[in-house]
Amino acid sequence: MTNAPVKKVPIHLQSSQNRLLIKNGRVVNEDGMEDADVYIEDGIIKQVGRNLIIPGGTRTIDATGKLVMPGGIDPHTHFELEMMGAKTADDFYKGTRAAVAGGTTTVIDFVLPQKGQSLIEAYNNWRQKADSKVCCDYGLHVGVTWWSPAVRREMAQLVAEHGINSFKMFMAYKDAWMLDDYELCHAMETCAELRALPQVHAENGNIIAHNTEKLLAAGITGPEGHQLSRNEEVEAEAVNRACVIANQVNAPLYIVHMMSKSAVEALRLARRRQRQPIFGETLAATVGTDGTHYRNACFRHAAAHVLSPPLRPDPTTPEAIVQALADDDLQLIGSDNCTFAEGDKARGRDNFAHIPNGVNGAEDRMAVLWQKAVNTGMMDPCRFVAVTSATAARVFNLWPRKGVIAAGSDADVVVWDPRLQRTISASNHHHAVDFNIFEGQNVSGSPQYVIVNGRVCLDDGNLRVVEGLGKFLPTRADSPAVYGAPAHAPAAPPAHTPHSPRSVTSAEHTNGTPTGGYEELHLNKQLESMSVSGSGCSTPTGRKMREPGQRDLQNSTFSISKEMEGADTKTSVRVRNPPGGKSSVLW
Ligand code: URP
Ligand code: ZN
Ligand code: ZN
Repeated sequence: MTNAPVKKVPIHLQSSQNRLLIKNGRVVNEDGMEDADVYIEDGIIKQVGRNLIIPGGTRTIDATGKLVMPGGIDPHTHFELEMMGAKTADDFYKGTRAAVAGGTTTVIDFVLPQKGQSLIEAYNNWRQKADSKVCCDYGLHVGVTWWSPAVRREMAQLVAEHGINSFKMFMAYKDAWMLDDYELCHAMETCAELRALPQVHAENGNIIAHNTEKLLAAGITGPEGHQLSRNEEVEAEAVNRACVIANQVNAPLYIVHMMSKSAVEALRLARRRQRQPIFGETLAATVGTDGTHYRNACFRHAAAHVLSPPLRPDPTTPEAIVQALADDDLQLIGSDNCTFAEGDKARGRDNFAHIPNGVNGAEDRMAVLWQKAVNTGMMDPCRFVAVTSATAARVFNLWPRKGVIAAGSDADVVVWDPRLQRTISASNHHHAVDFNIFEGQNVSGSPQYVIVNGRVCLDDGNLRVVEGLGKFLPTRADSPAVYGAPAHAPAAPPAHTPHSPRSVTSAEHTNGTPTGGYEELHLNKQLESMSVSGSGCSTPTGRKMREPGQRDLQNSTFSISKEMEGADTKTSVRVRNPPGGKSSVLW
């Protein structure tokens, strides 16, 4: 590798003074919650438990009343991307700084080569852009934006020598990045041979091109034309076609930025019939806003919401998408952070097809989802951890280094204050643009501390990131979550796949006293676990927390603090046989 990272970490910050104790919090992993302290040394979680023996000189963070969660993993960002004649406003410094401010401690960005460009050359460019700037660890996916035998060879080289285990193919952006079905077959088949994960942008690019011509000819040139040119059916058709192609070549599949109910339904059906796993990712944008903004009379406002696939006009979409995440019909949430300055969005003032595609989300992804999913009772904190970090860690083979609070894991930790209220606004966000698609939304729940590789980078609300602190994360192919556990692995439960939905049969307290069955425990404990004071996590399967007619905690008088004060009862429940094995293991 020619592009050795140039670290800008000041020398006084490079010492091994990093001893940190997070005390009195409630540790949340995808498979359970427990009241435990977390001891960190030299960037690694060393101990999780109670009554830990801690060396002198250790800084203590009091997390009473707070949740201690794995730092978020955003599986979908575009920092310093040149697209549609413009360059994104957030570079790797500002983008990762914004991500850290919101509780995300790992991002996975997309190397997107130009048609005809060497994939390795593009990868090296991305490393050069990112290594010296990132404020947190990052991985890379590589786009397969054209097809030839040379591309195939470079894919193999990227997997073998450069730490790439996922490749994105586009079914849209005709005449730019789009592949046809024959090329998609080859690209997905090559991924399967390399034990890498094919990803697709699922929209029918030919239909979009045709509709765009017709709309422009009819005089529809404004941002609403963007949405009209690519309705739900255009997305759902491509989702289905991508699944069929993957099945034909016996490849697993990851569908990025799923934006509509129709697309999710197509995915749900495919996941039932498919031979290999399929993963569906949605976005903070879909959950947090909707497509009515394309009708806003102000071009700047409407254009700022332009991304592909577009936000949907159906007002029931955001809640349905949250439900799909809760029910495990979708598995992950990213941001697709791809911000463009107002002047760049204005390239499409007279033609919506020229508006650079992309929105913000890296900073607000976690808080927006918490607000829409956990505060409404649709998702419990464990499922929140699953969809915001743990599943991404598993799918992209970063587990258990990332995505879990456990001894041996990287010390990427968020101390989450479920009562912290704030209003999202471009006036105080950390992105390099002066527009925020979640403007004015009140959220209850945000990070108070964010620890990146053992360093406190959000310190009681004060952002103190270090440019260049992050490292490139090589990702190995053959992820057990995608391709199954290796044959020689011990008899652990399989990593989650759509064919083996997370089956949890019982739960137990850590003191060894068996409780009733999983269903019984969690029906009884729903409100407690929602309140942070309870013992259990209900839904590794994503089963919804609030049944019809049950209390909506957001609008109830139920008191988190009261529950926390009286929390001298059970301190933890660990779900037996979580997907992919227990989080408390040492390795
Ligand atoms: O509109 C979007 N999504 N912009 C980023 C590029 C992509 O397709 O992910
Ligand atoms: Zn895309
Ligand atoms: Zn994207």
